[in-house]
Amino acid sequence: MVKKLILCVLMCMSLGVIASARDIKLSSPDGSLTLIAGVDGGQAWYEVKRGSEAVINRSQLGFVLSDGDLKGNFKMGKVTRTSLDELWSQPWGEDAVVHNHYNEMRVRLHERGGMKRYIDVVFRAFDDGVALRYEFPRQQGLQDFVIVDEVTQFALPSDAYAWSIPALTPYYEGIYTREPVSKKGNMSAPVALEVNDSLYMAVMEANLTDYSTMNLAHEGTTLKTDLVPWQNGDRVRVGDTRVSPWRVVIIGRKAADILLSRMALNLNDPCQIEDTSWLKPTKYVGIWWALQKQKWTWSQGDRHGATTEHTKRYIDFAARHGLGGVLVEGWNYGWDTDWTRHGDGFSFTRAYPDYDLEGLCQYAAERGVRIIAHNETGGAAQNYEDQLEDAYRLYERLGINTVKTGYVNSHFYNGELQHSQWGVRHFRKVIETAARHHLMIVNHEGAMPSGLQRTWPNLIATESMRGQEYNAFDRGGGNPPYHECILPFTRGLGGAMDFTPGIFEYRNDSVPGTRPQNTLAHQLAEYVVIYSPGHMAADLIENYEHQPAFKFIEDVPTNWERTVVPHASMGEYVTYARQERGTRNWYIGSVTDAHERDLTLSLDFLGDGAYHAIIYEDGPDADYRDNPYAMTIRRLDVDKTSVIRLHLAPGGGCAIQILANPE
Ligand code: NOJ
Ligand code: CA
Repeated sequence: MVKKLILCVLMCMSLGVIASARDIKLSSPDGSLTLIAGVDGGQAWYEVKRGSEAVINRSQLGFVLSDGDLKGNFKMGKVTRTSLDELWSQPWGEDAVVHNHYNEMRVRLHERGGMKRYIDVVFRAFDDGVALRYEFPRQQGLQDFVIVDEVTQFALPSDAYAWSIPALTPYYEGIYTREPVSKKGNMSAPVALEVNDSLYMAVMEANLTDYSTMNLAHEGTTLKTDLVPWQNGDRVRVGDTRVSPWRVVIIGRKAADILLSRMALNLNDPCQIEDTSWLKPTKYVGIWWALQKQKWTWSQGDRHGATTEHTKRYIDFAARHGLGGVLVEGWNYGWDTDWTRHGDGFSFTRAYPDYDLEGLCQYAAERGVRIIAHNETGGAAQNYEDQLEDAYRLYERLGINTVKTGYVNSHFYNGELQHSQWGVRHFRKVIETAARHHLMIVNHEGAMPSGLQRTWPNLIATESMRGQEYNAFDRGGGNPPYHECILPFTRGLGGAMDFTPGIFEYRNDSVPGTRPQNTLAHQLAEYVVIYSPGHMAADLIENYEHQPAFKFIEDVPTNWERTVVPHASMGEYVTYARQERGTRNWYIGSVTDAHERDLTLSLDFLGDGAYHAIIYEDGPDADYRDNPYAMTIRRLDVDKTSVIRLHLAPGGGCAIQILANPE
């Protein structure tokens, strides 16, 4: 059970303060941020300041509804306030304990005429940002209703540089690029913003529940919510769920502050899984990269990947190297046609004849390994829902504890977009059904994560980004060298990423020239830089044999006690240092873009006493373009006064294991 440690809960309710004639203020607990809200000429607005510096200029709030707008005709009603200062712990994550500390202000907005409806806007000010959401109390004139447009604005103080991908990029599998906001088209959230040398921000949503996903449009430098529609143009159909997701602005003085913000988690509801002891994410290998490289096939035939024989080899390898899972793709009926158009043909219970489903689960269990079932739907989500109970009951009986889902199709078969409210509901149904059957979910092609892992920690990872797989099949050469230097600031803010690191062999016979655009040391560093509680060792197992660098993958944990970020610059380089959950050991990952870097790393985060470091670094001539494998492994005795110099090659990286000497 997730243990909730309450430090102190301050409830200071001051009910019924009428503030319609004046602006009202909400300060962050440390007083550094101030959110001011008001209503002018019927239009509700908010703005945010850091000291006297404008962070968000006056920005509008409200909705266009199918039966009468909820904007532009408000007067302010009662304002109530509360605060919370709590520590809560999570079964897995970047930190064992999370600090949730905010001041809250709830503002009632009444329609001045018409149907005389009212809504609440709830604002929260944290030390590292602000958030707001709408609540829709049931009332006459506001029963079930349709949101045609949400008009929440985020008016930036200047034409900040934005890191983003275009809105509606299929599966969010796009390359993040940096341009001034005014030059961008519509964007997917999260958007990372470089405003000036001491102001970095990210705009995103948290707790996406029964609502459609938030993209961002803009006029000049004012961002505005642009919700993904249903087919008929409705954006959200409000029924039983009477709150919107949180609209979140993370605010930091350094780029690293954005990475350390836990607002997205804090704005989600506490864990709904009472007994979390069965959540055991683990590193895994799989019948997967050979499919991406077209060596094997998902479909039946001579090159079928998911055979009993291949799977046994992968299970044996996992057992030998202490990896707990084997992902198997292409084991079930449905792959022999164009499955992206005929996903209705997928069975999630019937195995192909050359795949001994029950026998392999048994074989794996005897070796301390679990099979990870793969459920590709081809977008036929209803077909999946129809089989969900039967499939999950079967998996639970067989000892399978993780399912990787997939939705290769931008539209579901009923015509709805993946990131629409229909899709959000579908993905949640899968997660909740899985929890009842003690199954963890790795969701590929899902809706943009929004911190849901706090509530449903059986959602162990999501893709929703351009993963390593593009380094196999992309026609443009693969992900750019800076890709992992920007992912943590954008997609990573929403939750764990199934990026699938660890490619050791860059040769590509099926798409020549396409390969990881980074070095082997960079591949190792990804295990620390990119957070997932269940990382894959993605390459073919034969490519790991007799490779000294594989020792790092064997050893690196996926659950952390504490995370610090010694270096960070959006899209250029980033260094994470993470303490292993429950031990004194630390692991460090540092990655750079196409430019080489020399970084100075102080180990002042270590505890007292002596440590031993094993450093996996780019060799002297390493370069992602022509010498990606050059790597040096060196050892060093260190303590918390030590300073290590890191040299990262172009496209390079560094991975360090720091083991505490026995006391
Ligand atoms: C796309 C997923 O991202 C990938 O991991 C999977 O192998 C294919 N779909 C097939 O389901
Ligand atoms: Ca994908």
